[in-house]
Amino acid sequence: MAFTRRQIIAGLAGLGGAGVAGLGAGGVRYWLGRPENLTTHDYELIAAPLDLELMPGHLTPAWAYGGQAPGVELRCRQGERLRVRFINKLEVPTTIHWHGIRLPLAMDGVPYVSQLPVLPGEYFDYDFITPDAGSFWYHPHTASSEQLGRGLVGALIVEEREPSGFRHERTLSLKSWHVDQQGAFTDFSVPREAARGGTPGRLSTINGAHAPILELPAGQVVRLRVLNLDNTLTYRLNLPGAQARIYALDGNPVEPRPLGKEYWLGPGMRIELGLQVPMAGTELSLRNGPLRLATLRAVASPEALAEWPPALPANPIAEPDLTAAETLSFNFEWVGAVSVGLAQGAAHSFWQINGQAWDSNDKGCADKPIASLQLGKSYIFELRNLSQYQHPIHLHGMTFKVLASNRKPVIPYFTDTYLLGKNERARVALVADNPGVWMFHCHVIDHMETGLMASIEVA
Ligand code: C2O
Ligand code: CU
Ligand code: CU
Repeated sequence: MAFTRRQIIAGLAGLGGAGVAGLGAGGVRYWLGRPENLTTHDYELIAAPLDLELMPGHLTPAWAYGGQAPGVELRCRQGERLRVRFINKLEVPTTIHWHGIRLPLAMDGVPYVSQLPVLPGEYFDYDFITPDAGSFWYHPHTASSEQLGRGLVGALIVEEREPSGFRHERTLSLKSWHVDQQGAFTDFSVPREAARGGTPGRLSTINGAHAPILELPAGQVVRLRVLNLDNTLTYRLNLPGAQARIYALDGNPVEPRPLGKEYWLGPGMRIELGLQVPMAGTELSLRNGPLRLATLRAVASPEALAEWPPALPANPIAEPDLTAAETLSFNFEWVGAVSVGLAQGAAHSFWQINGQAWDSNDKGCADKPIASLQLGKSYIFELRNLSQYQHPIHLHGMTFKVLASNRKPVIPYFTDTYLLGKNERARVALVADNPGVWMFHCHVIDHMETGLMASIEVA
């Protein structure tokens, strides 16, 4: 695909009057503005440096969307158009990818595949319809370890067309930060960790705060949207003693069922829970395995006791035709030792899909798709993890249906990311109904950056 720089720069001069954040002499303030001129976009979203106090008494030089890290929550309604003017006030090129949204390729935010990088000082107008309701998110697709690591991650909530049965909801964005005791960033990705489970951050946070206390209305059923916006961590989510039901997985409704003992939420994945908040004064703890992530405190509410809401309405995703589907195999493999004698600046390559490693320095990689699908046809993907580490396998542009696994019983469901366990084999299916070149990768960011990414073409 060819781009002219001109298509992307179209008139930065107009920005002055359009409600962009004021640049004060002392501090600069940035925010997500509703612009005065609604003919071109609904939101202005600025990416810019922002010092955060993650460790008490210390500042961390984070990067933020809309003056917050995690970024400001964007909301829109199912079936409507979302138009975001994205303004890059960072000193590095970047893009925005809308994780889980089925949109046209030109809006998908992958540099050199769907658009040119947005250079410092430039803007790009994202404009697409959101066909599915649910919890989604947005993040760059450039220098991802650092850019997501510094805080460029945010929730995108698409509301149902009609009000759901929930009157209360909270978004909980999980992220662990790569910072030391003084709040300074540590390495976002180190080779020995990238070759294993990924480089973990040390400070766990929810909506940017470590182990916060969240107040919830007693007696109500609250919709908790839990988003894993972390670079590498799989959270083993549990809520001991709670009455909690799963309502949606990764942006798609499921038949409500108990949360059970724990749910493994890999990087990029989301879960929506209905939580029956207990009596006022009670506390629950939302945990990752044995570690407390947040305290949920029930506070008195004047509202009458609430019932469990019905299931959320299904999204309009095409049902794959399994009898006519063609089966394709994808092997995810560890090839650890190939980086001996690596030239300086060259990307490490520890991982491969079907014997091919993605090279983030090679802009031509997307021109060599790992599979070519025929528009409108159904496919079964046989996913095979040949390694000792888990991989949250994510596909852009289309939603797939998880059918079966050799490791656990599966109630078929639609998703954009499947957490493929150690040595697991799973079958997923989809209708190739969105033309384009779509990234297919592990969402452990340092796996993706050391080879575990490919493109799939639909034409
Ligand atoms: Cu969250 Cu390439 O995606
Ligand atoms: Cu994505
Ligand atoms: Cu991986």
